[in-house]
Amino acid sequence: MECLCEKAERTASKKKLVVLTGAGVSAESGLRTFRDSDGLWEEHDVMEVASIEGWRRNPDLVIEFYNQRRRQLATVSPNRAHVVLAELEKDFDVWIVTQNVDDLHERAGSTNILHLHGQLTKIRGVDGSNVTDIGYGDLKPGQTDENGVTLRPHIVWFGEDVPLIETADRLVREADIFAVVGSSLVVYPAAGLVGSLRPGVPAFLIDPGEVGIRLPSNFTVIREKAGSGVEKMREYLSAYVVR
Ligand code: OAD
Repeated sequence: MECLCEKAERTASKKKLVVLTGAGVSAESGLRTFRDSDGLWEEHDVMEVASIEGWRRNPDLVIEFYNQRRRQLATVSPNRAHVVLAELEKDFDVWIVTQNVDDLHERAGSTNILHLHGQLTKIRGVDGSNVTDIGYGDLKPGQTDENGVTLRPHIVWFGEDVPLIETADRLVREADIFAVVGSSLVVYPAAGLVGSLRPGVPAFLIDPGEVGIRLPSNFTVIREKAGSGVEKMREYLSAYVVR
């Protein structure tokens, strides 16, 4: 009992660190990003495989695309960036808001994760019902649940609402410190979360490339890959640890 109280008090005293992650955080694990020169959208038409219209036109193609992603996910592991973000929970109240559908933050040990764009390891009915785990297995074309409802990947596609955006927005407004790791910041509403930051909140951007928005002046830009960049951010963050 005492332990629980102590933990709650300690969490309350820690600064809230909100980290928005994108495909770049998983690149060093071997998962391709979407928009880099070797990105997934070079090989696949995004509107064919990741939009609600694409699903309606050709669900089998969409199912195969996500089956491939799931099979590949089973073969990769979290990298240094995922691990350090999980380790930061020791000193910060860390909230990961990820656009990624992989489970590498979970496997690295992060405990507060919002998957804005859904999760590869889950499926659901086309009517939104019955979100269930599929792990790294295949969804079969035309597969239905026990009530006869057609099953689909639990992914937020282009043309669909992002149900967790309000929760994410609230977290960003409450953030004492904010970071973006490995996102081009061209997909909305996720990219718009940067605009919800309170003025003057210390913020970091870790990305070896250019991003799609003009960053406010409170951002420290670390032009590195996620692994070394997150390590470097941890050094800056030591100034904000509540002791
Ligand atoms: P993008 O592919 O648009 O951007 C990836 C970002 O990662 C770029 O800014 C790269 O410079 C950066 N990057 C590449 N390698 C990196 C590394 N090793 N370390 C750190 N950064 C690196 O991916 P997202 O911004 O995540 O949505 O894309 C957002 C959404 O668009 C995705 O969630 C997905 C996609 O279409 C859906 O499919 C619904």
